[in-house]
Amino acid sequence: MNKLIYLDNAATTFPKPASVMKKMIEIYSRIGVSPGRGSYDLAAEADELVAKTRRKVADFFGSPDPDRVIFTGNATDALNIALQGLLRPGDHAVSTRLEHNSVLRPLYHLHMKGIIEYDLVPFDGKGFVDPGDVIAAIRPNTKLVVVTHASNVLGTVQPVREIARLSAGYGIPLLVDAAQSAGVVPIDMQSWQIAGLAFTGHKSMLAPTGIGGLVLNREIEGIEPSRFGGTGVDSRSLVHTEAFPYRLEAGTLNLMSIIGLSESIEFLEQMGIESIHAKEMALLNKLRDGLSLLDGIELYCTENFPDHVGLLTANIRGMDPNDAGAILDGDFGIAVRVGLHCAPLVHESLGTSPYGSIRFSIGPFNTSDEIDHVLKAMAEIARYGNR
Ligand SMILES: Cc1ncc(COP(=O)(O)O)c(C=O)c1O
Repeated sequence: MNKLIYLDNAATTFPKPASVMKKMIEIYSRIGVSPGRGSYDLAAEADELVAKTRRKVADFFGSPDPDRVIFTGNATDALNIALQGLLRPGDHAVSTRLEHNSVLRPLYHLHMKGIIEYDLVPFDGKGFVDPGDVIAAIRPNTKLVVVTHASNVLGTVQPVREIARLSAGYGIPLLVDAAQSAGVVPIDMQSWQIAGLAFTGHKSMLAPTGIGGLVLNREIEGIEPSRFGGTGVDSRSLVHTEAFPYRLEAGTLNLMSIIGLSESIEFLEQMGIESIHAKEMALLNKLRDGLSLLDGIELYCTENFPDHVGLLTANIRGMDPNDAGAILDGDFGIAVRVGLHCAPLVHESLGTSPYGSIRFSIGPFNTSDEIDHVLKAMAEIARYGNR
């Protein structure tokens, strides 16, 4: 195979659907002006496209209110806005050891500034957090629970519905990091009682980089902005606009990527996210089954595939995953992600620190032949590595 086999879709999906690329160029060439800032028709048209995309995003995640769709640069940006805007001095937050640094670092930052305390709940041997442990960590001053929906190291989909239900019973909102689940796992914020959801466009949503969002329900009224500036609304006032969504948006939006997101949602709806997920899981099963037959391969938390997205983590016994990644790329043309995957506590718990692991992550355009090729490559490297 001469073509690169791309299995780093959890970092960013590649390639993007052709229709997304085509629409971005076509529409941006025609209406690429500053949305909502001008008095001319083209600016109004661009603004209407942004408004329509907010509606599509709200519908996609089962939120009734497009005004509570805040466009951000990515999930990290959305999580920072939510955590810094919701947590106040003296508050306590509950999260998990599965989190990505985009949750761990803002929480640590707020803690080191003396603003908050927080506790991180462990995950079990299969890679799942027990909702009962989350509830047991709640204190009288707990103001927020924040949980990743799908682990970017293990692929396990966490029981966020149950966590949301239980924490709502204590009047505590749940913020979900849906970076790895949005686009492959159906999410219904309203019926699941999710108070806030952070997503990124460039992973399974199949949009380009540079766009993400924070979707809030009406319960999150008093969230404080952490960035201030132009919104195109109420410009005489020195006070940043309080009305949603502008309350949490400052500066010119990324119209090009919003066009991409709008089109990628159309693509996901046409394909059906259940069928994309089923295809990815069939390839993941094949990869897991093949790897588990090889000598010298360690797999982590791969027994339980019903609640899973299309990625898995492995190691070749006795080999630094960085070396394995370099050989996969250099000798076999296979792109994977190696190391700690910005989720250091997962590796601490798995015992794979400090080198981490090899992560294979499948996207909608991978094929069965590619998995055959990966299995052959891994067999060869494992033979060599175990000598
Ligand atoms: C679970 C999880 N959360 C958050 C992020 C951050 O996403 P972004 O880099 O798009 O902000 C990632 C990215 O890998 C992730 O896997």
